[in-house]
Amino acid sequence: MGEHVKFATKLGIIATTVGSAVGLGNIWRFPYEAGMNGGGAFLMVYILCVLVLGIPVMCAEFIIGRHSKSDTVDAFRKLRPGSRWHYIGYIGILASVLILGYYLVISGWTLEYLFRAITNDLTGKTAAEFRAEQNAFIQSDLRPLLWTYIFLFINYIILSRGVQKGIEKMSNILMPLLFVILLVFCVRSLTLPGSSEGLSFFLHPDFSKITPQVIIRAMGQAFFSLSLGMGILITYSSYFTAKTHLIKTATTVAILDTSVAILSGIIIFPAVFSCGLDPVAGPDLVFVTLPNVFNQMPVSALWSTLFFLLLTVAALTSTVSLFEVSIAFLINYLNMSRKKATRIMMLVIAVLSTVSSLSIGSWSDIRIFGKTLFDACDYFSAIILLPVGGLLISIFIGWFLKKNISREELTNRNKLHEPLFSAIFFCIKYIAPIIIILIFLSGFGII
Ligand code: PHE
Repeated sequence: MGEHVKFATKLGIIATTVGSAVGLGNIWRFPYEAGMNGGGAFLMVYILCVLVLGIPVMCAEFIIGRHSKSDTVDAFRKLRPGSRWHYIGYIGILASVLILGYYLVISGWTLEYLFRAITNDLTGKTAAEFRAEQNAFIQSDLRPLLWTYIFLFINYIILSRGVQKGIEKMSNILMPLLFVILLVFCVRSLTLPGSSEGLSFFLHPDFSKITPQVIIRAMGQAFFSLSLGMGILITYSSYFTAKTHLIKTATTVAILDTSVAILSGIIIFPAVFSCGLDPVAGPDLVFVTLPNVFNQMPVSALWSTLFFLLLTVAALTSTVSLFEVSIAFLINYLNMSRKKATRIMMLVIAVLSTVSSLSIGSWSDIRIFGKTLFDACDYFSAIILLPVGGLLISIFIGWFLKKNISREELTNRNKLHEPLFSAIFFCIKYIAPIIIILIFLSGFGII
């Protein structure tokens, strides 16, 4: 293999990494998880998880990726030859494939809604009609699949062009667009009549609502939203340059990602309350409740087009990163060309997302532990595999890799004065593993 590829610019490094983190997780998953798990209380636990688990585990992944300059499996082989630590890489690949299996289906839905918004098909309907249409759409066989395949094809075009010309270029264009649209929505939402009730539901923590269940869901959400625990950030940081400031990058990504989640809450809850709708709507929140909210505004087609464009852009930069984990592995491990590796992954995910899309409709009696395949993929990957991956990664860095390697990476070989090094290393070594284990034990009712 020739020289390992690098991102071309500093902006590219931030845009791609934030692009991976900011996705359906922030705009679709976060508001409904917060809505179902206590609003402000969830938000507070979530922010704590980002600070004490998210940023340290992200630094841990950056150390592994940039030091080894390799894919997520080979990275552990290089750092601990002859050990079994590289199984963490396989767990990551499994998690990314499972997530892609249902993430692409929802990305397909966003395309359907974008299309309907543009063709002005989301106006003049009642709440009941929106619900009925959404149910009929997701339970039908062909239409959701068609959109999923179109979304897959867009991923293919970007991924097959490579790291700089595909992934980085796309992120540099789409991420600024995403932030502009978000700000426009924020202003719109806060100027709605009656928005303060929604804001207080979302921003005022009611401590009595914090239960072990709320905590375990907030932790899963933090890992999911920051793209942690599955090697995406190992893969992306292998494309960082020697000058990239790892702690600063991790903090920037965490702050931007959390801001987008909070902004989405600020956009969604006031709008929901102002229209007298229910915030506890679950996964349908953005697909049923929001079109209904836009419907009650002037120029509703414009708002819904902008919103579903935002959702599509966010989803695209994340699916590209989820794919890149396995593509980098296939290129390195089996010496495949990028085109071939990309094609193979497209095929695998096409099959999996077909099954998971059908599992909502005609195949809904196939159940795993009582869940549809679609729900099982989400639960198993986000709530279990990602935190387990994060736990193993922090144990690896804290206890098995020479501390000097971590110091070298986090201080760019002592070129940066880094007062935070000891604090971050302490969190990686002790705090993250202990807290993840405690949250698991209490979330599953063991303590
Ligand atoms: N972080 C992205 C999101 O919030 C998607 C993602 C999830 C990427 C899990 C990797 C791992 O939507």
